[in-house]
Amino acid sequence: MEKLVIEGGARLSGAVQISGAKNAALPILAATLLTEEKCVITNVPVLRDVQTMIKILRSLGVRVQMQDSRITVCPAEYEGHTAPYRLVSTMRASICVLGPLLAKQAFARVSLPGGCVIGPRPIDLHLKGLSGLGARIKVEHGYIVASGKKLRGGRIYLGGPFGSSVLATANVMMAATLTPGMTIIENAACEPEIVDLADFLVKMGARIRGQETPAIEIEGVKELHGAEHRIINDRIEAGTYILACAITAGEITVKGACIAHLGALIDKLRDAGVVIRNSGDTILVKAGRKLRPVDITTLPFPGFPTDLQAQTMALMCTADGISIITEKIYPERFMHISELNRMGARIMKEGASAIIKGAPELSGALVMASDLRASAGLVLAGLAASGKTDISRIYHLDRGYRQMEEKLSRLGAKIWREKE
Ligand code: EPZ
Repeated sequence: MEKLVIEGGARLSGAVQISGAKNAALPILAATLLTEEKCVITNVPVLRDVQTMIKILRSLGVRVQMQDSRITVCPAEYEGHTAPYRLVSTMRASICVLGPLLAKQAFARVSLPGGCVIGPRPIDLHLKGLSGLGARIKVEHGYIVASGKKLRGGRIYLGGPFGSSVLATANVMMAATLTPGMTIIENAACEPEIVDLADFLVKMGARIRGQETPAIEIEGVKELHGAEHRIINDRIEAGTYILACAITAGEITVKGACIAHLGALIDKLRDAGVVIRNSGDTILVKAGRKLRPVDITTLPFPGFPTDLQAQTMALMCTADGISIITEKIYPERFMHISELNRMGARIMKEGASAIIKGAPELSGALVMASDLRASAGLVLAGLAASGKTDISRIYHLDRGYRQMEEKLSRLGAKIWREKE
């Protein structure tokens, strides 16, 4: 196993280029199962989760080649319909092959994804949505078995106790593209990654409207053809580097960032006293030593993204006062609190909220990553801490961040990877 070692204290400066979005690439790769023609997907981030999705496509009999950030998928007449436990259990997002397989093969067998440290991760909305199209769904021996030769479009409400569901919206939207009739998804997710998926499906010949709104209309067509698509850049990666700049009182340029995807974060950081300007797809960030505390509530897009919660908590550990962070998406997504407290933070969990008292400074320590975004939060804390921080189990980080230590080193951070 590997660890990251960080010598804290350096103020970041320079420019960083944002890569393609993991959470757009995964459903878009799954969507290639809807056609028998070649698809070329570019600007794909080279990440562990993308490799896992490629393995799932190959296990279904689909030919996939990856060259740098370009993936060529040749579904041809693939026969497979089962996504195996050994792969799905390593990446929950594998669930998004369910909709395409059902629509294309009229049968799908996908392992139940299981939970993870950020929460139970139910899939009831996925199953409700596909049942709404007429699929017969049963769960047996740890697998979802979905079948339906005569799917019909319909009106499907996808709101759950925590709002909309990103991947349930993706699954139903993908299945509906080949389902005869009109499907209307109500309380659909509006995340940019859903819009990017819809854009790819439209290039394949799908008939979709309203993909930026909570009401998405899909008129089923007989078949979809191959297409070429460039994945949007990763708003969570961009937000992570903006926060890294802020926590080190640095001044950086973030290239390839879409300001429209980061409204909630930028609004809060400006309240905290960070200077943020943008021109085109470049965001300029400048921060002083002591920031003001802010209160955050995570919500579905365009609300504050839960995937930036841990990184923002790290920043608030160094703010000049008390902040409150409330998780409305994953109420248990606080594994990073105990690790940040080992670094001198003063955080108390109260139900689905965390109360953070800004500390004069954080101190380097041995800490352990627990999930993808918590790992990123620990890296940011290490950048600001005095002394050395060792972060173990950074395979979590590699799932969603390509070459993070290289990008941070180029910004002046003292960070390197070592064998544990
Ligand atoms: C996507 O996960 C992202 N993953 C997550 O990013 C992100 O945190 C999440 O959306 C919320 O924005 C990918 O896109 C691959 P949800 P997803 O279904 O679609 C509840 C990262 O770090 N829910 O929108 O699985 C669920 O428990 C990852 O990159 C149900 O109740 O999340 C949660 O509370 C982590 N029933 C809320 O909805 C369901 O059937 C939102 O979950 C499905 C979800």
